[in-house]
Amino acid sequence: MPDPIKWDDGFLYLLDQRKIPFEITYVKCANCTDVAKAIEKMIVRGAPAIGIAAAYGVVLASEGGPREIQRGIERLSRTRPTAVNLFWALKKMENAVSSFLDKTTEDDWDAHVPKKLLKDKLLITALGIHEEERQIEKLIAFYGQSILFQNCRVLTHCNAGGLATGGIGTALGILKIAQKMGKEIQVYCDETRPLLQGARLSSWELWIEGLEVIVICDDMAAFLMKKGAVDLVIVGADRIALNGDTANKIGTYNLAVLCKYHDIPLYVAAPRSTIDIDLTDGEAIPIEERNPDEVRTFGGIKIFPDDISVWNPAFDVTPNGLISGIITEVGILKKPYEESIAKAMVASVNFKDIQRAGFE
Ligand code: MRU
Repeated sequence: MPDPIKWDDGFLYLLDQRKIPFEITYVKCANCTDVAKAIEKMIVRGAPAIGIAAAYGVVLASEGGPREIQRGIERLSRTRPTAVNLFWALKKMENAVSSFLDKTTEDDWDAHVPKKLLKDKLLITALGIHEEERQIEKLIAFYGQSILFQNCRVLTHCNAGGLATGGIGTALGILKIAQKMGKEIQVYCDETRPLLQGARLSSWELWIEGLEVIVICDDMAAFLMKKGAVDLVIVGADRIALNGDTANKIGTYNLAVLCKYHDIPLYVAAPRSTIDIDLTDGEAIPIEERNPDEVRTFGGIKIFPDDISVWNPAFDVTPNGLISGIITEVGILKKPYEESIAKAMVASVNFKDIQRAGFE
């Protein structure tokens, strides 16, 4: 699969996810504003990927010195409100700037401190965020594959794959690794209206890895479950509150309610950078509302008049009670999530597990 995010020779290249699967093209970002616009237009999308792209955006902003970095961070933080990984990555970059500048004033900085040194330090931090995410996803896959049995039929929503993360993916990484380990995995991909991340991205990403994939329209999930064709549901996350309430792509809550009715487990897979330590529950998670034209059109063709109103929230929040487990890089968290999440946030990551599982 093509890398969704590439840093090359001082520029950021983002795979244009609006054009996948039929066109593989990269958009070159030469400055921080280019990166911010790419996030807004969803050239790059998915919670971890947005955070990684934003980190590189700060590197590009550093050309202009500390004031420009601050302006860049503010611009990037206004792009998309729901995925907390964006703010997590920007905080890491801000901390790297502060530790570099230490006690120097901005005037000192302008006069004496070589810009290149700061840029190098920020680039190391951004590359570190990117590489750490790749490693973490292997661990999520390692723990997550344990919930899948030999012949397993899984339903997923949106795209929580490598396109959304920079590594093998979270929810989809689990499926890819389980398949590599010899399990027979059949995957149903919800198409995920309005932007069709399931139909365009997840199905393609899994298909090129050789998994058996079947695309369904979002409104077919209930009937599929009623027919007994789904063993479990695995989705990603954009922001998880400390009690386990989880924001993910609009339609995830529908699936969770359906799972409850049909007695099917629903798992969330996400790195700990998706957990918002400032939110006790999901009530305060900011939900992005996007352009009505995304609903008003299909394949570029208008399907109803502009005068008819549209509601277009990009995410919903699934209450913790409907989630069977949260698969992270430190293991599978279970209820009560207040306790398991608090423990997970201070647990150390055991990268040896990746080697032990032969994933290296
Ligand atoms: O609007 P998008 O495409 O950025 O939404 C992406 C999702 O909702 C994903 O499920 C989520 O970010 C998890 S990605 C590992």
